[in-house]
Amino acid sequence: MNDLNGKVGIVTGSSSGIGRAIAEKLSDMGASIVVNSSKSEKLGNEVSESISNSKYFKADISDRVDCEKLVQFTIETFGGLDILVNNAGITRLIAHNDIKKADVDVWKEIFDVNVFGTWQMCSSAIKYLEQSSNGVIINISSIASIRPTGSSIPYATSKAAVNHMTRLLAKTLGPKVRVNAVAPGLIDTPWTQDWDIVRQIVSEQAPLKRSGKPEDVASIVAGLIAADYVTGEVVLADGGLSLNS
Ligand SMILES: NC(=O)c1ccc[n+]([C@@H]2O[C@H](COP(=O)([O-])OP(=O)(O)OC[C@H]3O[C@@H](n4cnc5c(N)ncnc54)[C@H](OP(=O)(O)O)[C@@H]3O)[C@@H](O)[C@H]2O)c1
Repeated sequence: MNDLNGKVGIVTGSSSGIGRAIAEKLSDMGASIVVNSSKSEKLGNEVSESISNSKYFKADISDRVDCEKLVQFTIETFGGLDILVNNAGITRLIAHNDIKKADVDVWKEIFDVNVFGTWQMCSSAIKYLEQSSNGVIINISSIASIRPTGSSIPYATSKAAVNHMTRLLAKTLGPKVRVNAVAPGLIDTPWTQDWDIVRQIVSEQAPLKRSGKPEDVASIVAGLIAADYVTGEVVLADGGLSLNS
């Protein structure tokens, strides 16, 4: 599949998991890709070396200067920017009834990456996306943004903010740039490798009887990039779990 020949994309947090699968998918479709992470430089370089037309750039999306540098690196390396996938995210595992543990410092740490980092990447990239013939932003949200669930209340709330940011930016940036989000349920990545109990519940209760693979999310991202008449949508990808819970 070569639909993205000549296109250039940034996938934040693509040294691992969902972001890696998205980088691989978009590269397979012909796009040039900048792989990114904030710490895992060796892994990030391995990913970029394993796919065609790709370079790695280390940048922490919670740092506004790093966001500018990541976008500038992309422009200097590939000559433009058509696709921004805001995938990088963090969480803290805190029971929802442990109110004291979810203190304001935890909220700030999570919002710094998931909300402010996503915003800053959009802000740094918009000028170039508007110059593209088909500029697209895809934000990776979570089922926790929609259902009262998730690894902690600050995390779930941060992803709800990402959904609303998605809709507001879609309204503001059309027709030049489309903005959509994918809200995954349980996906098998390093992040969730110890979540055996949750995986068992999903396998029993979700109509599709399994947890998701990073490639499942990557396929939706590719579909949204191709969907020229869709903007402002949050696509839930949970194997149907929320139908039964
Ligand atoms: N796995 C799931 O079940 C699931 C479900 C719903 C939503 N999600 C969302 O999907 C996204 C990816 O999750 P994943 O499961 O694939 O996690 P993962 O395997 O842990 O990968 C996270 C990636 O983000 C990078 N990253 C973290 N903080 C960053 C920062 N400040 N700046 C740049 N990169 C950063 C990590 O590299 P460094 O640590 O080296 O920076 C890594 O490349 C997240 O936004 C998450 O909220 C995941």
